[in-house]
Amino acid sequence: MEKIKRERLALQRGEISDPRPGHHVRFDAGGDTYWRFYPPGRYFCRRCLDLEKIYQEQDGVVVVTPCSCVEKRRQEAEKKQLENKLAAAGLRKKFRSRTFENFSITELNRPAWEAAKAYASNFATHRQSGKSLFLVGDTGRGKTHLAAAVLREVVRQGYKAAFVVTIELLSDIRATYQSETKTEWQILQPLKDVDLLVLDDISALDQYSDWEKGKIFELINMRYEAEKPILVTSNKMVGWIKDRLGKKVVDRLLEMCGDFVPVNGDNYRERIAFQARCEDY
Ligand SMILES: Nc1ncnc2c1ncn2[C@@H]1O[C@H](COP(=O)(O)OP(=O)(O)OP(=O)(O)O)[C@@H](O)[C@H]1O
Ligand SMILES: [Mg+2]
Ligand SMILES: [Zn+2]
Repeated sequence: MEKIKRERLALQRGEISDPRPGHHVRFDAGGDTYWRFYPPGRYFCRRCLDLEKIYQEQDGVVVVTPCSCVEKRRQEAEKKQLENKLAAAGLRKKFRSRTFENFSITELNRPAWEAAKAYASNFATHRQSGKSLFLVGDTGRGKTHLAAAVLREVVRQGYKAAFVVTIELLSDIRATYQSETKTEWQILQPLKDVDLLVLDDISALDQYSDWEKGKIFELINMRYEAEKPILVTSNKMVGWIKDRLGKKVVDRLLEMCGDFVPVNGDNYRERIAFQARCEDY
């Protein structure tokens, strides 16, 4: 340990001409000269060379302080772990980076941002009561972004969650009818069990077949009876849902969600495209 301490001090004092990892470093310690090989690519931190401590000499005494890389590494590991959990919850890579922080707020979309943020912060209560959230608005307003941000926060709090895109879920269920190995229940059971289910884009199709209507009802009713929350996003309002998916679906959603939360503002996709066009000129 003494030797290591001496080496760190020498490295930090800049007494070593080329202390890059991947090199043989020559140390002189009171007549004792030796070389130590620092293997390449092994170091996460160039400040402490992964000793997690920094040795400094102050008034002739060696002061040891923890290196900031420890906290940085902990945060990075936490972030990676969260990423993996979001992936396991079914959230696509694109939306795994969407958070409340990187949602740009305008006067028009602020109420939706606030409602979604408050919902996520109070999830412990909503998990108990089954209180759900319905985000409704035109295309590109940030509904899926906010749903992803809620999911992220809820998963960060340690809850189990799942994110499904309505039409993909219907296709996946349908595919099990042709499968020898996968059953419909294998898909539905986790969606019943999770603490929060996000059902994205419930109004994606203009018409739903009786089978599709039945499946959507089954899913919502499953959550309803289990008194577990669901977060639904939709382009269409209550009337449309009632016409296309039936009164039973709407009544349950209204009871679970209370008021629907409108997501207003500009179409963010158009905004991005417009900015890109402007940069071209
Ligand atoms: N206020 C915002 N700040 C930052 N990015 C945003 C904002 N609103 C939307 N976006 C981004 O714009 C893109 C489109 O948003 P999103 O997919 O959430 O829209 P949507 O309301 O779900 O639309 P659709 O009804 O078509 O599904 C996404 O990449 C999203 O992250
Ligand atoms: Mg969407
Ligand atoms: Zn360090």
